[in-house]
Amino acid sequence: MEHYFTNATNLKSEIKILKYEKDYKSFTFFSDNGVFAKDKIDYGSDLLVQTILAKTGKVDHILDVGCGYGFIGIVLSKFLGVPFTGVDINKRALHLCERNIKENKVNGNVLESNGYQNVRDKYDLIVTNPPIRAGKKIVLEFLENAGDYLEDDGYVWFVMRKDHGVKSIMKILEKKYTIEVIEKSKGFYVVKMKKILTKPDG
Ligand SMILES: C[S@@+](CC[C@H](N)C(=O)[O-])C[C@H]1O[C@@H](n2cnc3c(N)ncnc32)[C@H](O)[C@@H]1O
Repeated sequence: MEHYFTNATNLKSEIKILKYEKDYKSFTFFSDNGVFAKDKIDYGSDLLVQTILAKTGKVDHILDVGCGYGFIGIVLSKFLGVPFTGVDINKRALHLCERNIKENKVNGNVLESNGYQNVRDKYDLIVTNPPIRAGKKIVLEFLENAGDYLEDDGYVWFVMRKDHGVKSIMKILEKKYTIEVIEKSKGFYVVKMKKILTKPDG
């Protein structure tokens, strides 16, 4: 069975056009078979974006981990007026994301990477709707390792459903981050995390 995070190159292409509007700005997203939320912008991703836009302070550079066709990074980049990098393991999703960056005229770039493997820079906003179906190990890798790519004054924001175990995930993440649940809606939690900085010895 093909999952949205596999590189199913033989999967028939059927480009779909998804429209999205917020505060008088219109967006067009090209989507396709074999990518997450191919028929409809995901409710959790939209909730994450809306919550960040309502609550964030100043941001300089966004990393969208598991960017898919780019919804989260593109909308945030447009409203915050800052560049974003989208990372994904799925080549088809990355091609769509590149196309959507151009279509929506935002300052973005994409990077093919398994988790953070090819990520070199640091960011002050890391966002993700993590791939639950890829398993807890990958989800934890996305969230636990985000701290290594986060500026000291930056934040990681993510969205996850309560019934996908968000509380137990937060418990594990407490070792590395101070954590706040910022929004809850229809079983989705929007979570904001700040890195706990370790003091140098002496
Ligand atoms: C839940 S989807 C979110 C997609 C997009 N951000 C959105 O909100 O529509 C998770 C994404 O993570 C990607 N992914 C899964 N495993 C990955 C891995 N090991 N490294 C990088 N990306 C991965 C999937 O291909 C998928 O696009």
